[in-house]
Amino acid sequence: MADNPVLDAIRERRSIRRYTGEPLTRDEVIAILDAGRWAPSGLNNQPWRFLVIGPDDKRKTGLAECTKYAHIVRECDTLVLVFLKRDKMYHQMKDHQGVGACLQNMLLAAHSLGLGGVWLGEIINQEAQVLDVLGLSGEEYELQVALAFGRHDQRGASSRLELKDILIEDY
Ligand SMILES: Cc1cc2nc3c(=O)[nH]c(=O)nc-3n(C[C@H](O)[C@H](O)[C@H](O)COP(=O)(O)O)c2cc1C
Repeated sequence: MADNPVLDAIRERRSIRRYTGEPLTRDEVIAILDAGRWAPSGLNNQPWRFLVIGPDDKRKTGLAECTKYAHIVRECDTLVLVFLKRDKMYHQMKDHQGVGACLQNMLLAAHSLGLGGVWLGEIINQEAQVLDVLGLSGEEYELQVALAFGRHDQRGASSRLELKDILIEDY
């Protein structure tokens, strides 16, 4: 289907792990967060919470130590930590599905603004360490991801299975 900016963005977005170092503007970061805010959620419960780590935030060094993708955390401009707020959750699976939609919205928003981003899921293996660096309580928040954003210095190159290979029945 031609000339559909949403479909184009979905098709063309790739994970970007190298950045130029040129800063993002506050408006760009807000636009990304806003895209996350508008994601669908079960019962519209919006259980996600965001914590933004800008380039000069001293906590960035400690966060880099929480993941084997430390180089991405160090080199990105802005890191968005996304949590589920436990007292806003109503269903484990549906709340996690909702946050996935929220994260994809943010990655697509960044792409649409000409920015690069990547979903750093590995960091959740060190959730306790992340909570400690941020001074947050694990009773209140469940870590979902760190999204790294910056101006891209590479092109992504992933591919996908063909539609026929993921259809359970012919269509
Ligand atoms: C749940 C999840 C966890 C991910 N964790 C990481 C990660 O820790 N580090 C990383 O570099 N990329 C991570 N990614 C990005 C994937 O590697 C990437 O989306 C996939 O290889 C497809 O490439 P593309 O995003 O460029 O299309 C993650 C993606 C998802 C959805």
